[in-house]
Amino acid sequence: MVDDSWRLPNLVQQLATNVHVPPSQYLLREDEPLGRDLVGTEMPEPIPTIDLGLLSASNDAGETGKLRSALQTWGFFQVSNHGMESSLIDSMMTASRDFFRLPPEEKRKYSNLLDGKHFQVEGYGNDQVKTHDQRLDWSDRLHLKVEPEDQRNLAHWPIHPKSFRDDLHEFTLKSKRIKDDILRAMATLLELHEECLVNQFSDKALTYARFNYYPPCPRPDLVLGIKPHCDVFALTVVLMDKDVAGLQVLRDGTWYRVPTVSNYNLLINVGVAMEVMTNGVFRGPVHRVVTNSEKERISLAVFYGFDPEEEIGPVADLLNEEQPARYKVMKTKDFLAAHYEHLSRGERLVDSLKI
Ligand code: SIN
Ligand code: FE2
Repeated sequence: MVDDSWRLPNLVQQLATNVHVPPSQYLLREDEPLGRDLVGTEMPEPIPTIDLGLLSASNDAGETGKLRSALQTWGFFQVSNHGMESSLIDSMMTASRDFFRLPPEEKRKYSNLLDGKHFQVEGYGNDQVKTHDQRLDWSDRLHLKVEPEDQRNLAHWPIHPKSFRDDLHEFTLKSKRIKDDILRAMATLLELHEECLVNQFSDKALTYARFNYYPPCPRPDLVLGIKPHCDVFALTVVLMDKDVAGLQVLRDGTWYRVPTVSNYNLLINVGVAMEVMTNGVFRGPVHRVVTNSEKERISLAVFYGFDPEEEIGPVADLLNEEQPARYKVMKTKDFLAAHYEHLSRGERLVDSLKI
């Protein structure tokens, strides 16, 4: 019988309590240095914080300028005054932490391995392991489809802690408004009709929530929490751990630490689909998460994508003779499949879509 047990990754949370040396699949190879020497100590400028209330109500010049500059440089920005209550943020963070603190057998009820072995996108676990030599991330996650609401697979939604489902429902409602406000401001920056980008997301557009859990790691010098990647969907809203940093962003060949956020701000970043949609104007940043040997870290990322049956390509209103389409049009579900295929080879799909 063929031994394919390597396809079933360990849950890192358990591994972290049992090992002093991470197994070899987690260790960076010689040709993939962690690049500590490339970590910039000082950012060329801080990642801006944008007052979303002010930006949406009045297209305030100061806030609009910050948004433009953030999109042209980091591809990341924080939003404050975003309309999501701090009590909801606290409650969602506590529910996330409490979920990962449940005993392993309770969490396994939500496993992303059907019958213990067949990988599915949703559920609790890790990335799909496709090859023997795939490098694994030092993190576990719970990945849930939150929209369209009628496509939620509640079997994967934890019933403990008790507030989890209600918090996530509320969180996604508020997060959607934040996403729409940002899309309106981005459309205005591009001199498009205010609703132009919002309208790209139909009732069938996919939204996923991903709860990330990074346990302390005995070899942070050799192990990443999440390897370098660009988010594939259009926009990501991130609720980050208030106390423990770990996210880093690549800019001009240097990795910069993204500081923890304060005052209940949320972190926003652009993804690959936005790059295609805006014909290359707003580009998704490459980012990764590093590990540390002392503290666990938790984050919640909400990813905004499209209807898998629809096509994705540059918005027609942005194109003219001087600005022809720079990316091919593709069906969203093929785009997603191709993105993950490219990612597993360490390549960027958008580069192959360029005309
Ligand atoms: C990610 O989704 O890339 C990770 C975000 C984070 O943990 O800060
Ligand atoms: Fe990401």
